[in-house]
Amino acid sequence: MRQPHHRRQVVEIADLLKKASSALFITGAGISAESGLPTYRGVGGLYDDRHTDDGIPIEVALSGQMFSDRPEVTWNHLSRLESAVREVAPNRAHRALAQLQRTLTRTLVLTQNVDGLHQAAGSRDLVEIHGNIHRLRCETCGHKDVAHDLAVFREPPACVRCGRPMRPDVVLFGESLPSAELIRLKNELSHGFDIVFIIGTSAGFPYISGPVITASRQGVPTVEINPGETEVSHFVTHRLATHAGPALDAILSAVLDPGR
Ligand code: OAD
Repeated sequence: MRQPHHRRQVVEIADLLKKASSALFITGAGISAESGLPTYRGVGGLYDDRHTDDGIPIEVALSGQMFSDRPEVTWNHLSRLESAVREVAPNRAHRALAQLQRTLTRTLVLTQNVDGLHQAAGSRDLVEIHGNIHRLRCETCGHKDVAHDLAVFREPPACVRCGRPMRPDVVLFGESLPSAELIRLKNELSHGFDIVFIIGTSAGFPYISGPVITASRQGVPTVEINPGETEVSHFVTHRLATHAGPALDAILSAVLDPGR
């Protein structure tokens, strides 16, 4: 946060937050980058060399079609992701966001991340639109269970309730979004927010860019925190082209600073 234009923007954003009673925080892989998890796209992103060890593009390995045709390929990649996620802890961006939520009356965190780090940092009011890698779900009866270590299973474990195979409770490429989460999101969006943040995501999906573009058209302040340019960069009122940790820390300090 050394650049003077960043400092000025941070102060403005903090002032907006102090006046706001509600805020939407949309997050993606970039907020977990400082915990040591790779992003999907961009510098150091998983898709950069585009193929897995098996020579299969990651989007294909992690698709609903592959899970149905060759479940072991998808399971292998998800279990690697799950074990990577189990090794890491929330970073200061997750923690600062959770603290900012506590200063507001109504908030929503809409995350595409399946790593569970927002909850681990103490965030409340969370929509995990792509699911959570720490959970298993039975596709037949809908029963959910905690997934401790996906790598121990040689084949999908049986559901304790109905005996049918369980699967990781994440959204794979080509699959529909979970309906309960979509309904909750739609309901929250219908009430509107006083300020909308979009942090560490390339914003490639309409349900991610849409709330930012709509807010911006309605004259609602919008803040992007991302070192790179994205689909929504030209729509936002405030853009911090930097990493999520220092940016959110600086905003939190400015919000809490009684001297200002
Ligand atoms: P991406 O990998 O597409 O984008 C990550 C974004 O984070 C990029 O725009 C980076 O510039 C930015 N970034 C990197 N480091 C950062 C940092 N320290 N602080 C802030 N920003 C940083 O990840 P997502 O947008 O989350 O879906 O990807 C969306 C979805 O695409 C994922 O949920 C996954 C993937 O395909 C499914 O698996 C269904």
